[in-house]
Amino acid sequence: MKKLLTAMILLGLLGSFTLSAQATPQQDLAEFRDYFKNRFPKTPFNDYINGVYSIDAASREQWEEIEEFPPYELSISKGEELFNKPFANGKGYADCFPNGGIGIAERYPFFDSKSGKVITLESAINTCRQSNGEEPLGWQKGAIADVSAYMHYTSRGNIINVQVPNDPAALAAYERGKNHFYAKRGQLNMACADCHVYNSGNKIRADLLSPALGHVSHFPVYRSKWGGMGTLHRRYGGCNKQVRAKPYPPQSDEYRTLEYFTSYMSNGLESNGPGARK
Ligand code: HEC
Repeated sequence: MKKLLTAMILLGLLGSFTLSAQATPQQDLAEFRDYFKNRFPKTPFNDYINGVYSIDAASREQWEEIEEFPPYELSISKGEELFNKPFANGKGYADCFPNGGIGIAERYPFFDSKSGKVITLESAINTCRQSNGEEPLGWQKGAIADVSAYMHYTSRGNIINVQVPNDPAALAAYERGKNHFYAKRGQLNMACADCHVYNSGNKIRADLLSPALGHVSHFPVYRSKWGGMGTLHRRYGGCNKQVRAKPYPPQSDEYRTLEYFTSYMSNGLESNGPGARK
């Protein structure tokens, strides 16, 4: 704890950039991109999909070696098998999604005006199961990550283009996610933005902090630390815990809106999930 605190203090002075409260999502996005363009002038826009490897040549080399025999490959094939296995009622995942669920993962999350909720891909997977009389899957790892990995794999190369429709409830969901991203929390009193915007490219203990631009493009990921696959909300929980804050439940409105905001901030980038990370 003490060590972490010292590391935080050493990380030191925070930048002065914060997205303004009254800005439109479009203005936020332009500012967000500009910030990283100035911070990492050598990183081409589409390379942000590679997280920390987009800004660090040394760790990129190791990662490229890992990508030669990707540790998430097994998850893709398990996911494909699960995806194609009919439910007890004879229907399947393909019946629940547009285009039979193929090449559409990058359309998530979206705001559903009818339910007033942000619909993430994982939430849609479990809604599909439940509406067909199947038990929902656990949210953070295992089968849900496999099905999501397969669906994302079929979306590789598609461009992320999350919309905030002209609906006050959608804008409120976006603002809630934005607020989570910039709000200080936990005993260390740090926001997502403190690490992944103002200190991106700096080290915290042994870890180099990735830029938040492109943060969602490659999920779910195989993480060596987890020894397996995990969803984006599993990662959110881990990052909340790092600052000694109580994590929210996966697929809570809080994390769904956080995903909504950070995905919007990754608009224009390629979907490249699943990924591999340390
Ligand atoms: C104390 C610093 C710290 C804070 C605060 C923090 N994170 Fe992280 N986060 C890390 C570290 C360290 C990693 C692993 C290295 C990396 O990829 O940045 C990481 C990784 C991630 C990743 C995976 C990146 C990838 O390329 O796979 C995501 C997504 C993420 N954080 C989101 C968040 C969100 C959202 C918040 C706010 C709820 C947050 N983080 C708060 C330190 C932090």
